[in-house]
Amino acid sequence: MADNPFLQRRHSLLARMGSGVAVIPTAPEHVRNRDTTFLYRADSYFHYLTGFPEPEAVLVLVAGEHAQSILFCRDKDIEKEIWDGFRHGPVGAQECFGFDAAFSIKEFDTKLAELLADQPSLWYSIGHDAAWDVRIAAGLNAVRAQARAGKRAPAVIHDVRAALDDMRLGKDAHEIALMRKAAAIAGAAHRRAMRFTTPGKNECEVEAEFLHEFRRQGSQAPSYSPIVASGANACVLHYVDNNRMLREGELLLIDAGCEVDGYASDITRTFPVNGRFSGPQADVYDLVFNAQVAAVAAIKPEASFLDPHTAAVRVLAQGMIDMELLEGSLDAVIETESYKRFYMHRTSHWLGLDVHDAGEYRHGGDWRKLVPGMTLTVEPGCYIRPAEDVPEAFWNIGVRIEDDALVTADGCEILTADTPKTIADIEYLMKK
Ligand code: GLY
Ligand code: MN
Ligand code: MN
Repeated sequence: MADNPFLQRRHSLLARMGSGVAVIPTAPEHVRNRDTTFLYRADSYFHYLTGFPEPEAVLVLVAGEHAQSILFCRDKDIEKEIWDGFRHGPVGAQECFGFDAAFSIKEFDTKLAELLADQPSLWYSIGHDAAWDVRIAAGLNAVRAQARAGKRAPAVIHDVRAALDDMRLGKDAHEIALMRKAAAIAGAAHRRAMRFTTPGKNECEVEAEFLHEFRRQGSQAPSYSPIVASGANACVLHYVDNNRMLREGELLLIDAGCEVDGYASDITRTFPVNGRFSGPQADVYDLVFNAQVAAVAAIKPEASFLDPHTAAVRVLAQGMIDMELLEGSLDAVIETESYKRFYMHRTSHWLGLDVHDAGEYRHGGDWRKLVPGMTLTVEPGCYIRPAEDVPEAFWNIGVRIEDDALVTADGCEILTADTPKTIADIEYLMKK
């Protein structure tokens, strides 16, 4: 059990708490329509601490001298298991997942009041799930009702997600291994899409190549709705219709990643539908490529979270001036943020269990410093919509290049490096 990463994380949270009781419920099932639910996914915080995959479960951690981790989960139910599949039940869950104790979820409300009595603090994240907020408040009130019997309810409530966010920012070896796998599968899917793409196919056919590759390699699901955006659609940042025919002479921007045991990859590649970049397409592509090179070089310990973005913006802004998309000096373009007309998003976000992962971006007023073990995306782009003051050769060109970086002792490792990215590599793969 010593090498069980979930157990280690529970111990680490217990140590941070020092005292008190933490309550961390998993996600509810969500109805898709009538009696059909969406594919179930556990809550990321709950998964991080348990690895327990079933809905209707909650983790309770009791910190202090007699620290305990307790799971409440569904009972075994042979009739339901015939229809919906295996349930561990409390006894099986305790054994399999290394909890100190496990009980039926039906006992949670009564036991919560017992567990909270005479504890100094409750660690719970209010406001994320109204139904759980009501249950937790009822638990607190049940203890308060026993005041005359000498019981005291916790006087302090901490946001347990804040403590967990901090832990989740630095990935352990188990997490990094899963992120490598998610990156490798998504990379294979991008290569597959490059080989598959020709004029006349539909965006949805290319999307299908991704879904096929993700599942056949064991990913449970895409880590977000894939963006398969040809031509002008590439300038719609969250385009997900994916239903247009690919045309000769256009670019195809694909932002697609997958999830492996809860961990996300997030990759964007942009390539020509016919396998060869035109002059203006190559100009914009090289600009974004160079911006990404500058951003990657800025990812190292002690750099701030914003440094890669600042580096990318400098390159992009200068390129926009050189290509006559913008007027003015580099400093003026950066100062007035006029570059935002063509580059309106940030260069990075944390990546992990959530595609836009947990963790503060600023701490004590300053941008967070990068530390080995953090994982973030590097995703500069340039999106040029038609307009009178824009050279027509660039109209409807939208390019983004996105990779996933792991901060290392002396810089960073690109987890998604085997996805072709230079013009030469992309054209070579598409020719084959
Ligand atoms: N695919 C979402 C993002 O790149 O942030
Ligand atoms: Mn991203
Ligand atoms: Mn993305």
